[in-house]
Amino acid sequence: MKIKKIYLNNYRNYSDLRIDFSDGLNVIVGANAQGKTNLLEAIYMCSIGRSLRVNKEKQTINFDKNNAQIIVEIEKKYGRSTIDIILSRNAKKTVRINKIPIKKIGELMGELKAVFFSPDELKLIKESPEDRRRFMDISISQMSKNYFYMLNKYEKILANRNKLLKEELNKKTLKETLDIWNEQLATVGSKIIINRINFLKTLTPYAKLSHKYLTQDSEDIDLEYVGIIGENESDIKQIFLSELNKNFEKDTKLCYTTIGPHRDDIKVSVNGIDVRTYGSQGQQRTCALSLKLAELEIIEKNTGEKAILLLDDVLSELDSKRRKRLLNFCKKTQTFLTCTDFKGEADNIIKTSNGKVI
Ligand SMILES: Nc1ncnc2c1ncn2[C@@H]1O[C@H](COP(=O)(O)OP(=O)(O)OP(=O)(O)O)[C@@H](O)[C@H]1O
Ligand SMILES: [Mg+2]
Repeated sequence: MKIKKIYLNNYRNYSDLRIDFSDGLNVIVGANAQGKTNLLEAIYMCSIGRSLRVNKEKQTINFDKNNAQIIVEIEKKYGRSTIDIILSRNAKKTVRINKIPIKKIGELMGELKAVFFSPDELKLIKESPEDRRRFMDISISQMSKNYFYMLNKYEKILANRNKLLKEELNKKTLKETLDIWNEQLATVGSKIIINRINFLKTLTPYAKLSHKYLTQDSEDIDLEYVGIIGENESDIKQIFLSELNKNFEKDTKLCYTTIGPHRDDIKVSVNGIDVRTYGSQGQQRTCALSLKLAELEIIEKNTGEKAILLLDDVLSELDSKRRKRLLNFCKKTQTFLTCTDFKGEADNIIKTSNGKVI
């Protein structure tokens, strides 16, 4: 899919912006603090329904205004569509697809398939397991609305189970009530886990290819799901249930659920070495990039539709060979690349200055 146009109204430092995009490489150039990342943030918001940069999305409304709007026009394999988001200081956010408001954010999943990469994405390798779970969850959700709904369901069951663990009940009553939540948690949790395991299975060969490509064959990446693993869903469910029982004392003492897909992780290794602990910064960055490029490939494989690629400020972080190879890879799909200066070939160069395109 491709974005043909964007319209921003009072979004961050853009008061009124309209841009037509090219199908290939769109380079957004400008000095610091001009609005390059803001533009990518707006595009990505139309993909995942929220800002990746801030939790309080009202912060994205222009300082002096009460409402903001983003509209994107998308061209898909079969037909066109529009997504628009209205943010308001004193009302709930409205998301519309083809002018029809959606009831649940899950309905937006997959409407604009996008892969986002910024220097911040180094977190994906370096930081807590939460970042790696988020990577899997956002990717799979773009390919399956159902998965997104399962995640929401799991969160609710988990919250109920944790609430119960905080209540001062006698052990017998607690155990009996927990059993009910355990069954539900394991039913939904095992579906999440099997989806993630399968996702990693499909992702790994593509990650290997893109990593080999970026590192000129010098590095071999590997991915492994760390957590409750099993051959199939029912297998995982049984293991999960027995782990929940085993952890009964621990969970009641700590007052939260210490095991489950909300605690799982991905182990990323390069040439057999755990890259989170031992990798160089450049190596970690390249791994994160390889995962994202692989994500792009499997979205296409699983849905028949190419995702758009959003690359924020990545060129300055890579050596010249990796940079060249990345730009070459971008030819595969519509790409939005931000940088402070650009030398090279692009289909469209957009110069930003203080919330305007010049
Ligand atoms: N809600 C808002 N209303 C108005 N302006 C805002 C708002 N939020 C952020 N800005 C402004 O947007 C600018 C930053 O934009 P952005 O992060 O897109 O910069 P950038 O071009 O990506 O810069 P860099 O090259 O440093 O990454 C800042 O000047 C900031 O003051
Ligand atoms: Mg920026």
